Amino acid sequence: MGTRSEELFQRAVKRIPGGVNSPVRAYGSVEETPRFIQGAAGSYIFDADGRKYIDYICSWGPMILGHNDERIKDSVIRACENGLSYGCATEIEVEMAEFICERVPHIEMIRMVNSGTEAVMSAVRAARGFTGKDKIIKFAGCYHGHSDAMLVSAGSGVMTSGVSDSAGVPRGCTQDTLQAVYNDLESVKNLMEAYDGQVAAIIVEPVGANMGVVPPRFGFLEGLRKLCDDHRAVLIFDEVITGFRLGFTGAAGYYRVRPDLVTYGKIIGAGLPVGAYGGRREIMEMVAPVGKVYQAGTLSGNPIAMAAGLTQLKILYEHPEIYDHLVQSGERLYGGIEKLIIRYELPLRINHVESLGCLFFTEEKVEDYESAKKADTGAFSRYFTYMLNHGVHLAPSQFEAMFLSDAHTSEDIDTTLELAEKFFRQRESL
Ligand SMILES: Cc1ncc(COP(=O)(O)O)c(C=O)c1O
Repeated sequence: MGTRSEELFQRAVKRIPGGVNSPVRAYGSVEETPRFIQGAAGSYIFDADGRKYIDYICSWGPMILGHNDERIKDSVIRACENGLSYGCATEIEVEMAEFICERVPHIEMIRMVNSGTEAVMSAVRAARGFTGKDKIIKFAGCYHGHSDAMLVSAGSGVMTSGVSDSAGVPRGCTQDTLQAVYNDLESVKNLMEAYDGQVAAIIVEPVGANMGVVPPRFGFLEGLRKLCDDHRAVLIFDEVITGFRLGFTGAAGYYRVRPDLVTYGKIIGAGLPVGAYGGRREIMEMVAPVGKVYQAGTLSGNPIAMAAGLTQLKILYEHPEIYDHLVQSGERLYGGIEKLIIRYELPLRINHVESLGCLFFTEEKVEDYESAKKADTGAFSRYFTYMLNHGVHLAPSQFEAMFLSDAHTSEDIDTTLELAEKFFRQRESL
């Protein structure tokens, strides 16, 4: 008899495309049946067959405190007692905006939306409205959600499935999206010169985290800042992954480069469906109802989601030691993998920035989309399956990040390292 996950998947494929509500969940690239999840607590996640896993997906980032944190859960329950949604202004939205703007220096105004996709789509529109220009530069391998204009050489699920551009996107929607090479300032400069006076914005993941994890080279983000200043373009940091994770001020604070706009996603809702974009006042004042850039949302700033998100942000701000712990855990896990690579002379690479990391199944340095694509996805798949079957829940794709939370203990990490070592010792399985 099959497992409960298998049973659920068989039912799901009949009624949901691919059996899942977001492509990477389908486990397509690792030839496994998705594990259907029933619950989670701290660093653990439990599937429908009662199996327990150490979870390194963390809902793709937002569970910085670990799963089902009591403080967040309580705030959600309290908010629910008042009502679920009003479609009207609420005090907690004001508190959320003030809390962020008073603590993140590059955010003077902010607008809540419902997802990272929406945040990016809206920020790009605001940048275009502000500059009166149309073209956008994005980087190959950076994923900015699934809005039409951004599905050009996107990473994440698009990368795994080998679809570089989506069907159903009219050419007109992407004709103003220019592509540059991550970590290659020259490629950006060339585009800026070729389209002089036409570029509204450069959008970048300040740490590439949808082609595996690819840190910015020294000077790359500073170079983008300068190019935007020289060409009167808006610099957008997509901090859907890095925001409030690489410290409270995100990658902008971590790398000390000031973007004009930032986009946030899931993290700002502590796992509930929230996104946001914000930044310079003069750009944000272009947005309706103040300005002429239209952007709206019935459920934007939903009180339950705000309660969860604000509670998490307050905890993070008031307990900076959480960030120290994330750094230590990152060093333990990714440093531990690095040691294994050296000890067993493995043809692998580990890239990491603090609590974000990715083990690439390639010997070559991974610095951009092209080098990431050289990874051996078959070898990754074997590693993934081994770890999954031994209780470690990794993202089911070579090109996704591993996420650590404050709830991950040294024991969790050591268990993970021991398993990885066992796998690597059977070198033939690589
Ligand atoms: C950097 C980045 N931007 C945008 C998005 C889209 O966010 P969402 O899935 O909430 O629409 C993602 C999703 O993971 C992301 O990683």
